[in-house]
Parts: sequence; structure tokens; C-alpha cells
Amino acid sequence: MWLHYYLEITAGIICLVSALVWRSRKFGDFPLVGKSNDIHEALKEGTKKYPTKAFAIRTSPPLVILPISMIDEVKSLPESKVSAARELFRRAAGHYSKMGTNSVAAIKALRNDLTRKTTTIPTLIEETDFAFSNTLEKYDEWTPVRVFPNINRVVSMVSGRMFLGKQLSRQEEWISISTQWSSDVFALLRRTQRYPSWLRPYITPYLSQTKKVLEQRRRAKKFLGPSFEEQLSAKREGLPSPGEESLATWMMKYLTPRHMQVESLVRHQLGISWASVHTSTLALTQIIYDLAARPEYLQPLRDELEGLMRGCDRELTHADLNKLMKMESFMKESLRINPSTVVSPLRLTVEPVTLSTGQTIPAGIPFGFYSYSINQSKALYHSPGPEVFDGFRFFNMRQKEGEEHKHQFGATGPSESFDFGHGIHACPGRFFACTEIKLLLAYILRNYDLKLRDGEARPPNTLDEIWFIADQTAEVLFRSRDSDMCFQA
Ligand code: HEM
Repeated sequence: MWLHYYLEITAGIICLVSALVWRSRKFGDFPLVGKSNDIHEALKEGTKKYPTKAFAIRTSPPLVILPISMIDEVKSLPESKVSAARELFRRAAGHYSKMGTNSVAAIKALRNDLTRKTTTIPTLIEETDFAFSNTLEKYDEWTPVRVFPNINRVVSMVSGRMFLGKQLSRQEEWISISTQWSSDVFALLRRTQRYPSWLRPYITPYLSQTKKVLEQRRRAKKFLGPSFEEQLSAKREGLPSPGEESLATWMMKYLTPRHMQVESLVRHQLGISWASVHTSTLALTQIIYDLAARPEYLQPLRDELEGLMRGCDRELTHADLNKLMKMESFMKESLRINPSTVVSPLRLTVEPVTLSTGQTIPAGIPFGFYSYSINQSKALYHSPGPEVFDGFRFFNMRQKEGEEHKHQFGATGPSESFDFGHGIHACPGRFFACTEIKLLLAYILRNYDLKLRDGEARPPNTLDEIWFIADQTAEVLFRSRDSDMCFQA
């Protein structure tokens, strides 16, 4: 306990000293903008003052912010010049969490197998039914339900089925590891960002959040180890992989001989869980808050689902789910207003990078784009303006000729969104996330009515440095409904 107080006091003193030192107005070639305790204001101020130049904000180390218009200058630069992985490693205490270490095989398996295989949809539907019926109950009366932990459990189970197969994914030990893992790594990330970057290597080993992360890794290795060992032996002997086909089996196709080890597979698996479970849980939690605050959307969304399912006597395909354009629009609008970060994509320079403005970002410096400014752009969003939640905004935009295939949930770009990043590292799981969230939302629409308590406002977000944090304790009222929608496996 005393160590905790000691760290808090030391951090306070150091932050005060750093704040005094940081009264400087420049960081290399970049004007330093705003105060360290209000990053969002600093981002707005910098973007207004320097619309065509890069500036820096007072995080530790300072974060260089490039104008959105400069994305093409950096989006395709190789990892050897500007690195997404090294920035993740730096932020997420990679020495302990192993985040930001080699994930090539996992990314290939995501892109080539998980996103494309049509067999994934019936499996996802089966698991959606299983996960919800093991998590939520039948509520005859309006009943308060804490959204975040329940959705976290369901997303962990459904994603886990695709990542590991049901023999492992349905075991409570894995559900517990996977639900806690992402939150624990994120808690460590948020904790370490409170200390100046030069102090982090000395303080991080003693944080309780670090101990939790190390403990989760040990648990994961103990739980997954025997099954991965069995799969690796089968692979070495040229035998078919035991158990259900999953991301773990697809990943083995892409592992180099050096990485054909249990340790490496566990690291990949935790990496994918981190990238996917927390992000998808937050996105769906925000969607549920937005739906509960606007129950008038429930019926039109159900009508669209009914239309899709009417007379259905075959398995759903990706093409069928693409027809849920109103649902997708609602999901995208919720993400537009409630993204998980206001700065994306984020990179770390490996060597100095000179921009077209003549400014040079030295090696070892993080930089990014104020992605939230796209979401709030008056040029992109008018009638209604960007401050208004319009669940069918993107559906309406897609009705215009030539726009039918634009404005999809996973679309990235300066006139779409950077909420999934952009360029060579744009989120490879975004199409899977879209499919998964649609199926989970369809289950909720089919089985429950939702609303907030009378007079209650939508649960607010908080901003911590560049991260938007959804309320993780808020409750929404759920009531079961009878449904004849044919939406079971
Ligand atoms: C709504 C849910 C999600 C959001 C908002 C989200 C957002 C992001 C963002 C902002 C990035 C950084 C992109 C960049 O730097 O250009 C990213 C990367 C990544 N995401 Fe997602 N993601 C989501 C779901 C998922 C899912 C479901 C998976 C896996 C199935 C996944 C796997 C990854 C991976 C592996 C990367 C690293 C890619 C690379 O470095 O090349 N994500 N995601």
C-alpha cells in the first residue's frame, strides 16, 4: 500500500516539474500547443491555428499531430521508417504485455481466412445464441442490466469461438482470461501514460497493473499450452489439425519455422484478443447506449432484419449481411460520435521523416492524426450537422447515385473515417467486427426491448489523454420480447 502512495506522490511531483519544463513553446520544428491536462482542447486549438502544418501537443513524449491532408505522405511508408508496432509496444508496455511484437502470421490469417470464409457466419450465429443464452436471462419485467461486462463476455465468447474453436473458447477459464486481458492491458497503458516517458522503465515493473498483465499471460500459457502443443505436433507430422478449424489453425500456415512454438502462438492469440475484444465490446456497448437513448430506432431496425430473414431457408452469407444498411448506418454513426480514440492512426518514427511542409520529425517520436476532426467535420456532415446523432445518416448518404458502396462501417480514408486507422496498417479485423456486431445486435433486437430509466441521460464518455472511454458501469433496462424472427442457427 505504501508503495502505491509513494508512486502517486512521486508522479505528482514529477508531473508538476515536467509541466514547468514544458512551458517551452516549441518541440523541434513543431509549435507546442495547449495544456497537458486538456489534450482535446489542445488538439482543437492546434488544428485551428495550424490547418496545413504539423504541431505538437504536450503529452509525454510530445505527440506530433499532422494535418489530415498529409495522410498520403505517410500511410504507405514501411515499418522500417514509421512503425505502428513500435508505437503500440511503447504505449502498451510491450516488455510486459508483449503487445507490438511480431504479429504477421495473425494478421495474414485474419485477412486471408477469418474475413473471407463463408463458413464463419453459421458458426458465429450458433455461438451468438450460445453466448447470449449463457449471459443474459429472460426478463419478464424491465430489468437493469450492466451493459459493458455482459457484452464483454459475449464478445469474448463469440470471438473466442473463431479464434480458438469451441473446445477451448467455451471454458470459463478462457472466458475469464480473455475478458480481463484487454482491460488489464488497457489499464496498464492508461496508468503508465500518467508518468513522463523517461520515468516509465523504472516505475512500470512495480505497478499492480503490470503484475496483473504478467499473471494473465501465465494463465493464458497454462490454459492454451497443451492444446497448442498438440496442434504443433500434428503440423510437424503432417497430420490434420485436431479440433475445430479456427484462427489458431489458420495462423500456423503463416508461422515461420522459428515461431512454431507454443510461446509464440500464445502471444499471437493474446495480441488478437487485445486488438479485437475490447474494441468490439466498446463499439457495441456504445451502440446499445445509443439505441436505449433513442428507442424509436428499434422498430425500423427490426423491420429491416425481418425483411432480410423473411422466407429464409438457407444459411446467411456475407452478401446477406451487407444488405443490413440501416443497421450498419446506425453502427457507424455511433462509432463516429463515440470512437475509442481521438488520434488515429498512430505511428513512431524509426528514422527522421521530413514532411512536405519542410518540418522534420526526428527518429523515435510518436505522431498521429486528429481523427475526431473528421468525425466532427461540418464539410462532410451537414443537414443534420456533425453534432447531431442521426442513426440513418449513412444509409441516406448511400441512397445517392455513385455513393451506394461508400460510407460502410469499415470504410477508411480522409473523407470517411480514421477510426479503424488508414493505410497499410488499417485494422484488418474491421470486416469481421462489422459482421460480429451485426449478428450480436440482431440477437438483441430479436430478443429484447431496450430503454433508459425515465429521465436518465445517455451514459457519458470520458476522455483520458487521447482515449474515449465508454461508461463501463452504466445500466440499461432490458425486457424480453417474443419473436418469430427466424434467426437461429
Ligand atoms: C469496432 C472494433 C474495432 C476498432 C474500432 C478497431 C480499431 C483499430 C485501429 C484504430 C487500429 C490501428 C490501425 C492503424 O494504425 O492504421 C487497429 C489495428 C488492428 N486491429 Fe482493429 N479494431 C476493431 C476490431 C478489431 C477486430 C475484431 C480484430 C481482430 C479480429 C482487430 C485486429 C486488429 C489488428 C491485428 C490490428 C493491427 C494491424 C497492423 O498493425 O497492421 N481489430 N484496429
